[in-house]
Amino acid sequence: MTSFNDARQYAPATERNRKFILEVLQRVLPTTGNILEIGSGTGQHAVFFSTSLQPRQWFPSDPNPILRESIVAWQQQNPSDNLHPPLNIDARESVWAVEKECIEIAAIVNINMIHISPWSTCLGLMAGAGRLLPQNGVLYLYGPYKLGGEHTAPSNLAFDESLRFQNSEWGVRNLENVVAAAENEGLKFIEKVEMPGNNLSVVFYKD
Ligand SMILES: C[S@@+](CC[C@H](N)C(=O)[O-])C[C@H]1O[C@@H](n2cnc3c(N)ncnc32)[C@H](O)[C@@H]1O
Repeated sequence: MTSFNDARQYAPATERNRKFILEVLQRVLPTTGNILEIGSGTGQHAVFFSTSLQPRQWFPSDPNPILRESIVAWQQQNPSDNLHPPLNIDARESVWAVEKECIEIAAIVNINMIHISPWSTCLGLMAGAGRLLPQNGVLYLYGPYKLGGEHTAPSNLAFDESLRFQNSEWGVRNLENVVAAAENEGLKFIEKVEMPGNNLSVVFYKD
């Protein structure tokens, strides 16, 4: 277990998945503009993606103050002109900090959140993406999904069970339900990309 003498938290999975996620982001994100990351967690992804995706501007966010401190600490260790301080955004809020601050958002990135939070968080994410994104703005999701109600691998079934054991409102989501929630908010499903570890990248455009 890696630990630091500062506020940085460490999530090993971010180092395993970031290269594969970056390949998709480079292809699907607009080439410029402000990218809002919802549920940034430790901040490891934010420092990696902001550096790799210049000149786009990266806006990390998380509702957890300990994680926002971690993001700041990672940012201090890896400063980048295009990486902004973390915003306090709970996806379920009806007005997000970027709206209050009138920051125009070209794309939203959300990694490994919707299965580790209640379904209302996914609905809030879709509502926010529907409100904020301009026409052709991108919503990118990453994580494990069920397809047609079925798990895609035994490891995902075991993960789902462990999530539900921790919190009965958590769990691996059915992709079709996520797509339906997105379509309710004016988002169009564009593609899913198979990723290592039985995860998917899922891409939507604002219609
Ligand atoms: C498993 S972590 C993933 C963090 C990071 N994206 C990663 O891949 O390492 C889930 C994240 O979702 C955030 N989260 C949970 N509920 C949320 C909500 N309602 N709105 C925004 N973020 C939320 C948590 O604070 C946490 O940072």
